[in-house]
Amino acid sequence: MTKTVSRRAMLMGAGAAAAWAVSPARALMAQTRGAALPAPVEALLAQMTVEEKAGQLTLMAAAWAGGAATALNPAGAASSFDEQLAQVRAGRLGGVFNGNGAVMAKRMQTVAMRDARVKIPLIFAADVIHGLRTVFPVPLAEAASFDPDLARRTARAAGMEAAASGIDWTFAPMVDVARDARWGRGVEGAGEDVLLGRMMAEARVRGFQGTRGLAAPDAVAACAKHFAAYGAGEAGLDYNSVDVSERTLREVYFPPFQAAFAAGAPTAMASFNEIAGIPATANSWLLTDVLRREWGFDGLVVSDYTGDEELIAHGFAADAREATRLAFMAGVDMSMQSAFYITHLPDLVAKGEVPMARLDEAVRRVLALKAQLGLFDDPFRRIDPRREKTRVRMPATLALAQEAGARSVVMLKNDGVLPLPTGGRKIALIGPFAGGRHDLIGPWNVYGTDAEAIDLEAGVRAAVGDAASISVTAGSGVDDALPGGIDAAVAAARAADVVVLAIGESQRMSGEAQSRADVVVPPAQMALTEAVAATGKPVVVLLRTGRALALTGPVLGASAILVTWFLGSRDGAAIADVLFGRVSPSARLPVSFPHATGQEPYHYDHKSTGRPNPPGPLAEYKAHYREYANEALFPFGHGLTYGAIEYSALELGSARMGAEAPLGVAATIRNTGTRAATEVVQLYVHDVAASITRPVRELKAFERVTLAPGEAKVVRFTLRRDDLLFVGQRMQRVVEPGAFRLWIAPSAQAEGVSGTFTLA
Ligand code: BGC
Repeated sequence: MTKTVSRRAMLMGAGAAAAWAVSPARALMAQTRGAALPAPVEALLAQMTVEEKAGQLTLMAAAWAGGAATALNPAGAASSFDEQLAQVRAGRLGGVFNGNGAVMAKRMQTVAMRDARVKIPLIFAADVIHGLRTVFPVPLAEAASFDPDLARRTARAAGMEAAASGIDWTFAPMVDVARDARWGRGVEGAGEDVLLGRMMAEARVRGFQGTRGLAAPDAVAACAKHFAAYGAGEAGLDYNSVDVSERTLREVYFPPFQAAFAAGAPTAMASFNEIAGIPATANSWLLTDVLRREWGFDGLVVSDYTGDEELIAHGFAADAREATRLAFMAGVDMSMQSAFYITHLPDLVAKGEVPMARLDEAVRRVLALKAQLGLFDDPFRRIDPRREKTRVRMPATLALAQEAGARSVVMLKNDGVLPLPTGGRKIALIGPFAGGRHDLIGPWNVYGTDAEAIDLEAGVRAAVGDAASISVTAGSGVDDALPGGIDAAVAAARAADVVVLAIGESQRMSGEAQSRADVVVPPAQMALTEAVAATGKPVVVLLRTGRALALTGPVLGASAILVTWFLGSRDGAAIADVLFGRVSPSARLPVSFPHATGQEPYHYDHKSTGRPNPPGPLAEYKAHYREYANEALFPFGHGLTYGAIEYSALELGSARMGAEAPLGVAATIRNTGTRAATEVVQLYVHDVAASITRPVRELKAFERVTLAPGEAKVVRFTLRRDDLLFVGQRMQRVVEPGAFRLWIAPSAQAEGVSGTFTLA
C-alpha cells in the first residue's frame, strides 16, 4: 500500500516532536545569554584575567602519585603533584579527573581557595561508569535487565559513593548506540537499540544526580558521552572514522543524548571520531547548531582525553594553535588533558582570533556547573575523608550489586539441566574463569578491584555448602593453552555429574581501544570446550564477555548457556543465584549475537532490502551471506526463564489508529512451566511503506512481568502517534498514515503474537 504524506501529517509530526526538539525561544536564549551565574560568581568572572579564564577551561588527569589517573595513563598526568598544585595556585587549572579521594581533593581545594588570586573551587571529575568501590555489572550487562529503574538505583548508589569520595562530576553515562560487536566500548553502553538506550540514559542520569538537586552533597553531575556516533566507527575499530547520514544520526545516535539532557545531564563530552570528514571535537554543526541552537542545551561541553590535540593527527588542524581555535570555536568549552586551551587561548584572544565573548561564554558554563554543584557555597562539600571510609561498600550497596548482577544474566539456552540442585551432584568448575579473583569487575572501572569481588568458585561454594562436591580446574588460559590443562579438565569432567564451563573474554578484551576482528571464544578455549563436551557430561557454559559473541560448535551445543558478562563486586554470588535457581533468569540480550563476525555491524532493526531472503532456506539472489540468512544467532531481546512462557490472544483496540487517539494493544502471557518466571514482554512495530524506508522491526515498549507457575496475565501497551514518528525526507520528524505491523513477542526475531493496524 502506498501512503500519501499529507502536509497536515508532516506538520503534526513536527509538532509532536517537541519532546526531541526545543522551542526556538529556548534555543535563542541559550545562544544569546549563556549560562546565568549567581551575582557573586559573575563578579568573580569580571575579575579574571584571560589566563585565569583559560585555566578554568583546562581539565587535567590528577597527578597524585600512584593515583588512579597516573596508573591509567602514566604519560598523561602532570610530572608531579607539586607541579599540579602550582598550576592551581596560578589559576591555570579548572579541575582534575580520576584523582584519588578526599585527602588529595582536600589538599588541592585548599590551595585553590587559599592561594589562588581569584578563589574558584576546583571541580573533581572521574570515570564512575559502573560503580566506584562497589562495582555494579558493566553497563551493557545491566542494560540486559531491561529494567531502567535498576540502572537508576545502581547509578544512585555509585553517585553516592563517588560524592562521598570527593568526586563532583562523573564522565557517565556513555550513551553511544553500539551496533558493531567488534567495537570494544559497547560494554560501556546500553547496546544496539534506541529505545533501550534512551531509557537507560535517562535512568542513569537521574541516578547519578539524585532528586535533591546537584548541590546535594551526595549528587554528582552526569556527562553524556561521547557526542556523537562514536560507536559507528568503520569496521568496529575504536577511534575510527564515521560516515553516517544525518538521518541516522538523528534517528539512532542522537536520541539517547537527548534523553540524557532531558533528564538533566548538565554536561556532554565530544567524541574522538570524525563524522563525514569533520572530527566531532571541531564540528560546529554538531556542537553548536544541533546541540545548542536546535536542542537548547546550555550546559558544558568537554573534550575527550586530548580530543583537541587529536585534530592534528586527524589531519584537520595544522598545529596546536589551530586545533585549539577549531575545537573552541566549534563549541568545546573545556579541554581535557592536552593543556591546549591554557597554552593557546590567551594568545588567540589577544590576536582577535577568538572573541572574548566566546571565552566568557565557555567560562560561564564552567562556573555555572560549579555553582550548580554547590561548590561556591562550600568547596569542600563532597570532601570528607571520614565519609569516604564509611559510605563505600556498605552492605546494602553490595546487596544491590548482587541483585543487579543476577538480573543481568541472560540464559540463551537450557535443555533442562538448569537450575542445578544445591546438593547431591558433583560439579566440575572448569575454564579460565572458574575461579580466582580476576576478570570479575570488567573494564572501565577506576576505583574497584577484583581483589574485593566474589569469584565464581566462592559463589558456587557458598551456594552448595558441600565443599567435597566441587572441583576447580582452569583447563586453559584465556588466549593460550595451559600445559596439561585439557587432560586435567577432562579428568575433572569425568569425575563429575555436571560441568560448569566458565569461558569467554578477559576484561581486557573489551573497553576502550579493545576492538576485536573476530568476536569469538578464543581458540584455546574452544579446544578445551570440545574436549570437555566429548566426555558426554552435561555442560553449562558461563560466558564471560563484554560484547556479543559469535558462538559455534561445542559452545553452542552445550546443555545450557548463560551470558554472565562482568558482574562486578558480587559476580560469583550473582551467578550462583541464577545457576542454582534462587533467582530465575530474567535478562534479555541488549545486543544481537551473530552467527559470525562477518555479519557485523548487525542490528535487529535493519532494513528489509529489495530482496529479503524469505524465511527458511537461503534463496538464490536474495540478501544473505552464503553461510547464513540475515538473522542473528540469538537476537536482541532474546533470553529464557526457568518458566515456560506462551504468548496468545493479541488484542488490538481497533484496526485503525485515529489522528489523536492512542491505540491499545494487549496479549496474554502465560507461564506454563513449573517455576516462577519474569518475562520481558516486547512490543515491536514495522511501518510497512513510508517515504523513508523503515526497519524490519523497532522496539516501541517493553514490560517485565512476573508470573507464578500456571499464571496468565494480560499485558497491555499503549501505542501513540509519537511512537510512529521517524525522520522524514527533509530531516523533520514525521508520521505518515498507512499500514503497520506489530508484534508482542519475546525477542526481536520471535513471532509471538502479531497483527496489523492502519494509521488514519
Ligand atoms: C575516554 C573517555 C573518558 C576519558 C577520561 C577517554 O580515553 O574515551 O570515555 O571519560 O578518557 O578518562
